[in-house]
Amino acid sequence: MKIAVAGKGGVGKTLVAGTLARFLGKEGIQVLAVDADPNPTLASALGVSPDVAEQIIPLTENDELVEERTGMDRKTYGGMFKLNPHVSDLAEKFGVPAPDNVTLLVAGTVTIGGAGCMCPAGALLKALIRHLIVGSDEAFVMDLEAGIENLGRGTSRGMDALITVVEPGQTSISTVARIKKLAQDISVDTVFGVANKVMDEMDEKAIRSTLDELQIPLLTVIPFDKAIRLANLKGKAPIDFAHDSPAIRAIRALIPELRARLNNADP
Ligand SMILES: Nc1ncnc2c1ncn2[C@@H]1O[C@H](COP(=O)(O)OP(=O)(O)O)[C@@H](O)[C@H]1O
Ligand SMILES: [Mg+2]
Repeated sequence: MKIAVAGKGGVGKTLVAGTLARFLGKEGIQVLAVDADPNPTLASALGVSPDVAEQIIPLTENDELVEERTGMDRKTYGGMFKLNPHVSDLAEKFGVPAPDNVTLLVAGTVTIGGAGCMCPAGALLKALIRHLIVGSDEAFVMDLEAGIENLGRGTSRGMDALITVVEPGQTSISTVARIKKLAQDISVDTVFGVANKVMDEMDEKAIRSTLDELQIPLLTVIPFDKAIRLANLKGKAPIDFAHDSPAIRAIRALIPELRARLNNADP
């Protein structure tokens, strides 16, 4: 299963991506969890210890690596650098073990002014994502920032689904419309929605009607859940801290729903 999770900042992408990765891993599947958020926090949602997480350098910020693989300094614009750097060993070399068969790879990001940048670090990131989507058999879950530009046309076709997380409120909802449009632009046609931080029926109705309008199927409704905030405050992975809480159960329920819909979509 190759899944990307997107949405406005703060909606719960990391909660969903991290918890989903752990549940898939619990099935015995080797899962690669890729953090492509400029503010990477997937480690904590996965249950990687803070001491280990602190030491991780995002690949796009690893100057030595970027230079070694592309032939040019990370910050260079223009000039000649390799557009197709060697990346197939990166997950193995830089991946950090997390519980339940999950490996965390902090990829970093290079989005500048809304478009993936044509710079050495951008070339490395694009090549890595392309490799993971097209060239690897491993299941992966990617935690993306709101922009999905780094996915790029063509490579995205190999992805099974883009999950957009949406919380009650107009800004989150308009972000979903933008993500849907971007997904179409890069030929990702399997877009699903997940409602998060839902307090009451009114919240749920508002999100349902927006997703209906955009023709985005809703996979699950995650309630607002104090246990998630508490896990965060304690620096624990929500799935470990509150494994039987309503929010975590709602994320678990997403998996069979996702599988059923993906199987139906297959000819
Ligand atoms: N269902 C929920 N109930 C309560 N708090 C939540 C819920 N989902 C996310 N949060 C909290 O909202 C904040 C943002 O969540 P996070 O997963 O980091 O979002 P993102 O990755 O989209 O920025 C965190 O403090 C998290 O604990
Ligand atoms: Mg996040």
